[in-house]
Amino acid sequence: MKAWRGDAAPPGSQHETPDAAALEELRRRGIELDPEAAGHEHPHRHSVPGEPPLIGIVGAGAVGTALGAALHRAGWPVVAVASRDEARRERFRGLVPGARGFAEAAAILDEVELIILAVPDDAVEQLAGELRLYGGQALVHTSGVLGAEVLEPARAAGTQIGAFHPLVAFADTERAIAALHGATVAVEGDDQLASLLGDMAEAIGATAVRLAPGSKAAYHAAAVLAAGGFDALLDAIAELGAAAGLDEQGSLAVYGGLIEQTLGNARALGIRAALTGPMTRGDVGTLARHLDALARLAPGVLPLYRAAAEREITLAESRGSLAPEAAKSMRSLLAMAG
Ligand SMILES: NC(=O)c1ccc[n+]([C@@H]2O[C@H](COP(=O)([O-])OP(=O)(O)OC[C@H]3O[C@@H](n4cnc5c(N)ncnc54)[C@H](OP(=O)(O)O)[C@@H]3O)[C@@H](O)[C@H]2O)c1
Repeated sequence: MKAWRGDAAPPGSQHETPDAAALEELRRRGIELDPEAAGHEHPHRHSVPGEPPLIGIVGAGAVGTALGAALHRAGWPVVAVASRDEARRERFRGLVPGARGFAEAAAILDEVELIILAVPDDAVEQLAGELRLYGGQALVHTSGVLGAEVLEPARAAGTQIGAFHPLVAFADTERAIAALHGATVAVEGDDQLASLLGDMAEAIGATAVRLAPGSKAAYHAAAVLAAGGFDALLDAIAELGAAAGLDEQGSLAVYGGLIEQTLGNARALGIRAALTGPMTRGDVGTLARHLDALARLAPGVLPLYRAAAEREITLAESRGSLAPEAAKSMRSLLAMAG
């Protein structure tokens, strides 16, 4: 379907453009045609055959801006951005010289072949409903939780839809661009589009992966635990550190080393073998002291500590290092602390 690899829809594609003879035969038999099934053609700009597609990004937020800059630096033509906010649009254009800025997402359809929707998950479907692709164009979103099918409303004959989800925490533009090197990107789409998205991932230093059908929400929930969930854990650690007289930087310095050590152990030995602490030893008295200190000094941390402790007890039991009696005592202490 793509202008950059030939204009025809891939064989067998659901949205293959009917050939002229077939259309004529249908007309001759007096069969009404859905006008849209014959395509939604438009003279939008095209890249040179064999070259990467002209790219437009909708949403100049954390992901859209970093991805736009990374692709531009990798030599891919990012030629347009749509953001309703002028300051964000200008910041994007500062990082991606030559990109044209638009307030409306629909306006970039005239400029590009590949449109990347980098907007909040909840806005993707609604936005797709406001766009109508032209033949030869592809639309992808960057959501980790939504499937490509949410983009169906924008689809017309000879177009493709997909997803491009980088497993990176986009907290800061330059740090995110650096983190794209070595990251994985979950891609979705027909074979032809997935292959292009694979090339795009490679261009920015990442590796494309295709997830098992139906697994995206679980994959993304794990990512959210690893990024936001871990940050929430750091916040809880810092709150307890404050009770011990440490400021945030102090906590990160003191406990950061322990975190890195635990991650290193898990990588080298496996998650179960890396578990250390009172829950592995059945130290009920230590657990009781912790729960008492938490209740007095940092009650907000208690639910997180309890949830983690439950999981640690199960983990310790599964590796045979915790006697059933000790596990039982610890679980009842935790239940009372709730
Ligand atoms: N943050 C991450 O670490 C991360 C990692 C991987 C994937 N993702 C995914 O990437 C997507 C974007 O996330 P983000 O963190 O970049 O979000 P963000 O920083 O909040 O940026 C979202 C952008 O979309 C625009 N936008 C918001 N609502 C819109 C609407 N109704 N219509 C059109 N544009 C709208 C915003 O406003 P303006 O139009 O005003 O600019 C903004 O530019 C999400 O699907 C997210 O799940 C995020």
